[in-house]
Amino acid sequence: RTGARVERLPLARFTTLGVGGEAEVWFVETHAQLAEAMEVPYRILGGGSNLVVADEGVPERVVRLSGPFAERDLSPDPLLSTPEQLVTGWVGGGVPLPGLIRTLQKLGLSNLEGTVGIPAQVGGAVWMNAGTRYGEMFDGLHTLEIVTPQGARQVTPDDLGWGYRQSGIPRGHIVTRVRLKLRPSTPEAVLEKMSAADQARKGQPKMKTPGCAFKNPGGVSAGRLIDEAGLKGTRIGQAMIAPEHANFIVNLGGASAADVHGLLALIRERVGVPLELEYELWP
Ligand code: FAD
Ligand code: EPU
Repeated sequence: RTGARVERLPLARFTTLGVGGEAEVWFVETHAQLAEAMEVPYRILGGGSNLVVADEGVPERVVRLSGPFAERDLSPDPLLSTPEQLVTGWVGGGVPLPGLIRTLQKLGLSNLEGTVGIPAQVGGAVWMNAGTRYGEMFDGLHTLEIVTPQGARQVTPDDLGWGYRQSGIPRGHIVTRVRLKLRPSTPEAVLEKMSAADQARKGQPKMKTPGCAFKNPGGVSAGRLIDEAGLKGTRIGQAMIAPEHANFIVNLGGASAADVHGLLALIRERVGVPLELEYELWP
């Protein structure tokens, strides 16, 4: 009724792991289309860079932010900006994060350069406060628009209980757009801060993967714990614990979700401390 484009598609196409069966994907471009999509059980798909989707797909509608929800207005808001802090116009939740981070560097705008190399969309990165030890999404957020089946509301980071790899936003509440708060700097200075975070990625695998499998327990590298358990290079089917970094599971080509689940179970069995999953398992 609201004209959203709807297609049955394999989710493998939308995930960095390259795994996942079919679902009904709703490409929403307006708040009205989003409201219609949310009338029945739904899931929100971002860059698919933290997802392990079942080979059977998912029965729920899958919402994908498109059109204006994937556009960005980086011009300074005249009322909210000061010489020390630039507050942008709206940046859509469907905007790819890597391109945004590159543009901010060229503009000499600081605060988010620590998130370089995270292949997410803005909404997904905000929802889990993606980051590295050089910085995280909440370093650069001024206002968030969040949509639920009950409607849209605007919040500030202070309204949320955010922390390491968590925003405090309940699952299924959709981050449709945000305003960024940035510190005016120079392209050179931003690039220099970025290269440290870039350097830390050199030891990460280049193959298809959904990033780190587990959160770091109490600040200790989960990768290191899995490595010490002797699990690097372990394979189940076409999924493998990366030889480069043990907290990454890679798809050797044709892996199934079950292969990945098998490795996750093996890691939990072999590592002595409880590990909290960073991935999302669908369903
Ligand atoms: P998806 O994978 O699509 O979804 C993940 C979750 O977010 C789901 O629950 C989904 O429903 C929810 N979600 C997605 N969009 C929205 C939205 N608009 N509103 C509300 N909820 C939403 N992560 C780090 O933190 N640091 C890293 O250094 C890092 N490096 C990575 C390197 C590689 C090579 C890869 C593949 C991944 C890496 N990741 C890293 C993991 C991943 O990029 C992050 O978890 C990211 O936040 C996922 O965002 P996404 O848009 O891809 O979300
Ligand atoms: N280490 C090992 N063996 C391994 C992996 C790591 O001994 O197999 C050791 C390293 O030698 C190093 C220490 O553990 O001494 C830390 O490793 P690294 O610098 O790779 O950091 P990490 O804590 O393992 C975190 C994030 C990454 C992020 C990097 C870089 C988590 C769960 N992981 O990894 O984020 O890219 O720092 O900042 O917080 C993600 O969340 O998906 C992710 C990739």
